[in-house]
Amino acid sequence: MRIGVLTGGGDCSGLNAAILGVAQRAWSLQDEVYGIGRGWAGLMGEGEVFPLAKEDVVGIITQSGTILGTSRTNPAKIEGGFDQALATLKRNGIEGLVAIGGDDTLGVSAKLHERGFDVVGIPKTIDNDLPCTEFCIGFDTAANIVAEALDRLQGTARSHARIMVVEVMGREAGWLSIVGGTAGGADFIAIPEVPVHIDELVAHAEQRGKTHRFGVMAIAEGAEVDGMEGPTDEQGAVDAFGHVRLADRGVAQRVADEIERRTGIETRVTVLGHVQRGGTPTVHDRYVSMLLGAAAVDYLHGGLGGNMTAYKGQEIVPVPLAEVAGKNSLVTPEIYATVRQFFGTVPAS
Ligand code: F6P
Repeated sequence: MRIGVLTGGGDCSGLNAAILGVAQRAWSLQDEVYGIGRGWAGLMGEGEVFPLAKEDVVGIITQSGTILGTSRTNPAKIEGGFDQALATLKRNGIEGLVAIGGDDTLGVSAKLHERGFDVVGIPKTIDNDLPCTEFCIGFDTAANIVAEALDRLQGTARSHARIMVVEVMGREAGWLSIVGGTAGGADFIAIPEVPVHIDELVAHAEQRGKTHRFGVMAIAEGAEVDGMEGPTDEQGAVDAFGHVRLADRGVAQRVADEIERRTGIETRVTVLGHVQRGGTPTVHDRYVSMLLGAAAVDYLHGGLGGNMTAYKGQEIVPVPLAEVAGKNSLVTPEIYATVRQFFGTVPAS
């Protein structure tokens, strides 16, 4: 079989391990593997389609990003986009496709499958918001980066008696803030799923100032913080998948300004940004990604095109792409309530 592989949407750590998993499994079955450059753009004439060689995957397991390149190009938003994608696949003799990506990439995969092409999806996103799977490539590494950043900022916060406000990615999902923030000892975490009022954040900072003289807060880029002056949902630039750039809201900066103005405590902001998407992939991101890559090839051989390789309870199980597309897994109020008990207790109480 000739198998194509692409990575779509935002890059992250662990993508190369998945590509390695696809390639090794395919080669062990005497398949050919074709890399598709720049995600769906590669099937629309804007990226190379090339046979992957053994040398291409040597040592890539430790590298962040994707050796294939990526983009947020969406064939559904381009006139005749799917026909063009199918024509490119046909022209290159590709019989099955492995698409590694988040909600948007998997949504496109579902549509391509509806048009009769065999596609298997692999879950990837640092936002960790894909349903039906307990693992998304890149999340573990990103959460570790958030925790490490908070560890580092604790020292400055303590030394200068400051409140450090840290903005964390995650789009409409608070997972990265909740997991990375809790592990890094954030004394307050604000997420998109559970609105908080700025008065609560200010009161918390004031109290922290009295009891500890410093604090570190994790604020998700999409956090719902009510009662602040200025627009909270300003429309920023929109990417090709139609998502507003939430970083443009500047929510952490506005929270910090409000805290400093109302409490008089010196407050600083760190926007972690794309730092969260890079770095050496964690062991978990390497190992599971490789397994999912290999499973995707087996799915193509086993008539399981149209599915995502979901990871549940240490097992890889097929979940129809149609069930995944357009749905989000979000932090529940119950989880947020559980995590709240740790605010201010780790590491300094
Ligand atoms: O979906 C992954 C993600 O990193 C989000 O957390 C973030 O909002 C967005 O991508 C940033 O996208 P870009 O790389 O296009 O700025």
